[in-house]
Amino acid sequence: MSVMKAGLEDIVVSTSDICFIDGHEGRLLYRGYDVNDLVARSTFEEVCSLLWYGRLPTRKELEAHVKALASTANRKLPPKIITMLRQLPKKATPMEVLRTGVSALSAFDPDAGNLSHEAELRKTIRLTAQMPTLVAAWERIRRGKPVVAPNPRLSLAANFLTMLTGKKPTPLAVKTFDVALILHADHEFNASTFAARVTAGTLADLHSCIVSAIGALKGPLHGGANEQVMLMVEKIGKPERADAWVKNFLAQPGARIMGFGHRVYRVEDPRAKHLRRMALELGQEAGDTSSVQIIETINRVVGEQKKIFPNVDLFSGAGYKTMGIPIDQFTPIFAMSRVSGWAAHVMEQHGNNRLIRPRAEYTGPTREQYKPIDQR
Ligand SMILES: CC(C)(COP(=O)(O)OP(=O)(O)OC[C@H]1O[C@@H](n2cnc3c(N)ncnc32)[C@H](O)[C@@H]1OP(=O)(O)O)[C@@H](O)C(=O)NCCC(=O)NCCS
Repeated sequence: MSVMKAGLEDIVVSTSDICFIDGHEGRLLYRGYDVNDLVARSTFEEVCSLLWYGRLPTRKELEAHVKALASTANRKLPPKIITMLRQLPKKATPMEVLRTGVSALSAFDPDAGNLSHEAELRKTIRLTAQMPTLVAAWERIRRGKPVVAPNPRLSLAANFLTMLTGKKPTPLAVKTFDVALILHADHEFNASTFAARVTAGTLADLHSCIVSAIGALKGPLHGGANEQVMLMVEKIGKPERADAWVKNFLAQPGARIMGFGHRVYRVEDPRAKHLRRMALELGQEAGDTSSVQIIETINRVVGEQKKIFPNVDLFSGAGYKTMGIPIDQFTPIFAMSRVSGWAAHVMEQHGNNRLIRPRAEYTGPTREQYKPIDQR
């Protein structure tokens, strides 16, 4: 049997045309396009089109695609899903609710068990349109506020922020949120995408694959990291306390600070700089840059002491917080974006499928003598 590699580190398990990461140069490409160009010139909707159809759309194609993603038919939730949400305990976390909601949505989906490419595209569009409505609806329901209906005239970013807060977001908030969605859309064979592909490899349906991915994203070593960053920022409280706090934290044996380090990047995550800039701009617009100042101090100390670099999760939370988004909604927002990449990977896996089934290096006993229960 071949060599065992804990965590499958650096093991190549498949080919893929979707996403390329150069961990030494700090480059991230979707379908060959540099994410920096997409952030500067595209929208999240256009990036979805790129991921799902494999090329940038023409103007006409993009118009039709944006319309489909924004349509009320695709964005609205079946009324029974809203009833189900109202019956969940209010203390349920948004990630638990998202995982449950996506699973339940499959029961209402007309294409649920249909694995044809056309059906998978229809489901991908529906789920990408429905997930923001689901996330926002839970936020409203758990706070005892009326659910806000989706508006087909708004972009996915503007519509989500409106449904979540019940208020019209500022243009800077919409732009920032759209960029955050672009930056989180795909990241090669990260843990949640791999979970989606493993599930897809059994020829399970799209909803099952996305539920697997949501479960994997939930952990603090993956999507949950940006929540942990903001909890740390809240604990620190004031910029002048950050230096001492982080030094003290890092002095503990085995201390692991969220928002830093990466399995693939050996330099700064190329997504971090955009989120840093936008968190600062949003803070300036709102007249409070204290979260960004705290994070900058953490970044300086971690860089000096640990020689590890910020990842995508370090700055995203500060921007979301300024937009009025509760901390436990950060990971569901990550999922709202990453569903675009997950779906692209599920379609790619189904297009050239092979069951994903690795082996384990067995380290347990091999010659145990079975004892009847009354002799143990
Ligand atoms: C992302 C992560 C899980 C990658 O882990 P990995 O590839 O398994 O890297 P390792 O855990 O082997 O780390 C390598 C070394 O860097 C250190 N390191 C890595 N990330 C660290 C962090 N965030 N804080 C402190 N030390 C860290 C490890 O302690 C280890 O040091 P050692 O060799 O002395 O034991 C890891 O960096 C981490 O836990 N980061 C925090 C969570 C996070 O922000 N996740 C979001 C990723 S986008």
